[in-house]
Amino acid sequence: MTRVGSAVRGFEVGDEVYARPRDLRIGGFAEFIAIDQGDVAPKPASLTLQEAAAVPLVALAAWQVLVDRAAVKPGQKVLIHAGAGGLGSTAIQLAKHLGATVATTAGTDSEKLVRDLGADVVVDYTREDFSKVLSGYDLVLDSVGGANLEKSLTVLKPGGLAVSVVGPPDAGFAEQLGAPSFMGLIMNILSRKVRKQAKSLGVRYRFLFMQANGSQLRTLAALYDSGKLRPVIDRTFPFDRTLEAMAYVEQGRTKAGKVVVSMEPDSE
Ligand SMILES: NC(=O)c1ccc[n+]([C@@H]2O[C@H](COP(=O)([O-])OP(=O)(O)OC[C@H]3O[C@@H](n4cnc5c(N)ncnc54)[C@H](OP(=O)(O)O)[C@@H]3O)[C@@H](O)[C@H]2O)c1
Repeated sequence: MTRVGSAVRGFEVGDEVYARPRDLRIGGFAEFIAIDQGDVAPKPASLTLQEAAAVPLVALAAWQVLVDRAAVKPGQKVLIHAGAGGLGSTAIQLAKHLGATVATTAGTDSEKLVRDLGADVVVDYTREDFSKVLSGYDLVLDSVGGANLEKSLTVLKPGGLAVSVVGPPDAGFAEQLGAPSFMGLIMNILSRKVRKQAKSLGVRYRFLFMQANGSQLRTLAALYDSGKLRPVIDRTFPFDRTLEAMAYVEQGRTKAGKVVVSMEPDSE
């Protein structure tokens, strides 16, 4: 932290912090960013700055799905799709910490990683259709979308919940954005098909777009420091190779977890 506003409490110049800036305040590919104190927390002491950078977006999203939205309880069955991805690799660990039995979908080469992260059941999505082998789930976290989401509804037990982070959005998202009420109607139209499918199966569907939250990042920092969670990093690029990092992600070349852009010139 290089400067602190006069109304800011609890932070000092020199503090090592981590954050996901709130919507409309994006700009993380930069040496400096002005950020609301409500979005910031001290970084987990046990992580390097590079490791901490991999955490906020995915850990907040995982927390907001598993804790805020679904209130996962010990013994519940949770399916986390794309377990080797940035979000999935974090959500598996958090769901295990909450006491759930966790199933995940992953490619053949990702099986060892997702088992090491705690997955109890692994379905290789390149060889098997998860909806044919899984049933009776309390919660599905979908980050794949499309047919994957529609099939996810069928593995839920009655009353179960499917949360997608890739859409389609629902009226709750319009509300979260503070958008006019007609936007809620539009978003409900966009998700009408999947909501109708959910209703006919006796299950629920919600869209989630994560929100900045410094207080949750403090809670999460304690979980990283106690070893309950660990960041999964695929590769680190130096800042002057940010475009290469973006292309690497866009081309789907990541094998597991997050890609980090570092201010350290020699990082790679
Ligand atoms: N709304 C929100 O708040 C929010 C928050 C975070 C992320 N997201 C979104 O969620 C999506 C995933 O993000 P991410 O960071 O986790 O992505 P990522 O790190 O790029 O992960 C992609 C993973 O997807 C897996 N995959 C590909 N096709 C699959 C399939 N058919 N079934 C199961 N797994 C499959 C791959 O696994 P293998 O390597 O094992 O093949 C890969 O590891 C992105 O679209 C992102 O924008 C949204």
